[in-house]
Amino acid sequence: MADSCLIKGLDHLEFYVGNAKQASSFYAKYFGFANTAYKGLETGERKVVSYVMEQGKIRFVLSSALSSEHPISQSVWKHGDTITVIALEVSNVYQAYAQALKGGAIAAIPPAKQEDSYGWLEFAAIQIFGDTLIKFIDRSHYSDNFAPGFAPRYAAPINSMGLKSVDHTVGNVEQGQMERWVEVFTNALGFKLQCHYDERTISTEYSALMSKVLKNSAGTIININEPAPGRRKSQIQEYLDYHNGSGIQHIGLATDNIVQTVRQMKQAGIEFLPIPQNYYDHLEDWVREIDAPIHFLAEFGILIDRDKDGYLLQIFTKPLSDRPTLFFEIIERHGSKGFGAGNFKSLFVALEREQALRGNLKV
Ligand code: FE2
Repeated sequence: MADSCLIKGLDHLEFYVGNAKQASSFYAKYFGFANTAYKGLETGERKVVSYVMEQGKIRFVLSSALSSEHPISQSVWKHGDTITVIALEVSNVYQAYAQALKGGAIAAIPPAKQEDSYGWLEFAAIQIFGDTLIKFIDRSHYSDNFAPGFAPRYAAPINSMGLKSVDHTVGNVEQGQMERWVEVFTNALGFKLQCHYDERTISTEYSALMSKVLKNSAGTIININEPAPGRRKSQIQEYLDYHNGSGIQHIGLATDNIVQTVRQMKQAGIEFLPIPQNYYDHLEDWVREIDAPIHFLAEFGILIDRDKDGYLLQIFTKPLSDRPTLFFEIIERHGSKGFGAGNFKSLFVALEREQALRGNLKV
């Protein structure tokens, strides 16, 4: 895509799930999202039920199908609950779609228009890794509702946990596939390669992975991981096995107060990846001054990393479904534009401990 300014930012992430009604309660109770729009049988929709969940600038759409033949049901059968659609707001759907195809993208949904009493909305989609779609949406002629077919919900109680925006989205692809998808993001979508972590940076005694970070001019960040050969099964390979191929591994959600957010989420019942206490023993030596006391971060298991631009605080949930696939990261940035490279080792050791508990850290 020659003009990446066509992309205005992330519009929403759509999850294909087995039971959107229950999933909406999960994201409300455990993550503090409010249900702001709905479509289903009651609104005249016969095939799909969707709940729009919002907090800060984050918008999730949770969708389930009403028949087993529907592609959403097929996706749930194959992948379990997963994020299938990364929707980007664009200024011109036709141009974005045409330029993406010219740049080598795979066509999925040709440009279409939907309208109702709130205005009209245009959209199109391309396919990326696995069954994941990038959807282009132009909502400049649509307001006060999510999309045609949805009914706004204004009465939902909002119990915000301070999550304010999607910081980054991370996909896992099969070994040898990372470069191909990096090219699609750069040539077809106008993203630029920001940095590259090789298997020397991201490796433990047992396994390794490679990662590339892509960013566009609107600030949308996509990271792509692929497994690298190691002594045992990479955590990326475990994901690929249970997800049945490539897909979205985790979403980084930004907060301005990670201690408060994590405290609320823990109280609600979310489980985070346990970090060994010795991680905090000599942290003050190299992290230098940070705003939050380290004993406080240790109590919650929050990780710290510093680079030339500043520091960041981050923590990772355990997988959100029975399959060890999708999880969330909560991140508070203080200048740092990185992803916690200094934490990769301790984080992946922690991940492998969980992987071993599942019987999946085998040769
Ligand atoms: Fe992340």
